[in-house]
Amino acid sequence: MKGIILAGGSGSRLYPITKVYSKQLATIYDKPLIYYPLSMLMLGGIREVLIISNKETIPMYQQLFGNGSHVGISISYAEQAAPNGIAESFLIGEKFIGSDGVTLILGDNIFYGKLDFLYKALSYKHGATIFGYRVNDPERYGIVEFDKSGKAVSIEEKPQHPKSNFAVPGLYIYDNSVVGIAKSIKPSPRGELEITDVNNVYLKKNSLQVEKIGRGVAWLDTGTPEALLQASNFFGVIEDRQGLKVACIEEIAYHMKFISREQFVHLIAGIPKSLYRIYLEKILHEEE
Ligand code: DAU
Repeated sequence: MKGIILAGGSGSRLYPITKVYSKQLATIYDKPLIYYPLSMLMLGGIREVLIISNKETIPMYQQLFGNGSHVGISISYAEQAAPNGIAESFLIGEKFIGSDGVTLILGDNIFYGKLDFLYKALSYKHGATIFGYRVNDPERYGIVEFDKSGKAVSIEEKPQHPKSNFAVPGLYIYDNSVVGIAKSIKPSPRGELEITDVNNVYLKKNSLQVEKIGRGVAWLDTGTPEALLQASNFFGVIEDRQGLKVACIEEIAYHMKFISREQFVHLIAGIPKSLYRIYLEKILHEEE
């Protein structure tokens, strides 16, 4: 299974935060936003990751993550010339995906909680799995409608009259046929290759699983300055209370055994003196 993080877009809604760098580099409490989706892929055991972004931002991601080897994964980068739609990821990433399945996560999507929904979905071998998460403001998202038996019957992108309150989060797990499907769809009236159109092809073929994510999992919004502040406060409270970091990719790499203890020690030695480094040292010594 390959992983793609789509981390481009214009980010104009967050101006001036996004005037110099893209939204996915904005701070969520103590680390850049993109750490959160990257950590989801890593926790899912995905070790080959492609980050797609615009030309200006790719060098910044490269500075942040390099080739990923310090955290035991491989990260490559590809350019999206313009925000032509989420489904363009599979055209840009065609070579990277090769003959594998692919998990796509949007670089501004944050999940927190028990990740059983992810582990279960990653164990399916065919078709596509997307998720349904109850929200208060369904007109802002892709919305899935379920019949009485709980089967998904329709998905609509930002409907004016939503048929349910279940939004589709920006986390999608596909088999290899997604590349062909992405090639077959046409841009929507707003000029984008819509991920909802890809999902509707799977739905029509009867090969779409829609798993509801329960209320014990947080899927946080990052679309407004207020939402960024709320997300920062949310993780600040949790990290402070537990003394454990969320989405700390170095710690995850160690716990997932992507890197050895020796590599972890070496990695920590290269981090400037900071609270982040002190935290990693604590993790290392707690293991002893
Ligand atoms: O967050 C979940 C929602 O994401 C889904 O419920 C919707 O079905 C899906 O269309 C998408 O809706 P958004 O309105 O959030 O999409 P947005 O255009 O804001 O793009 C989401 C992120 O992906 C954003 O950080 C920018 C990035 N992006 C987007 C597009 C269209 C790109 O990097 N390239 C793109 O071409």
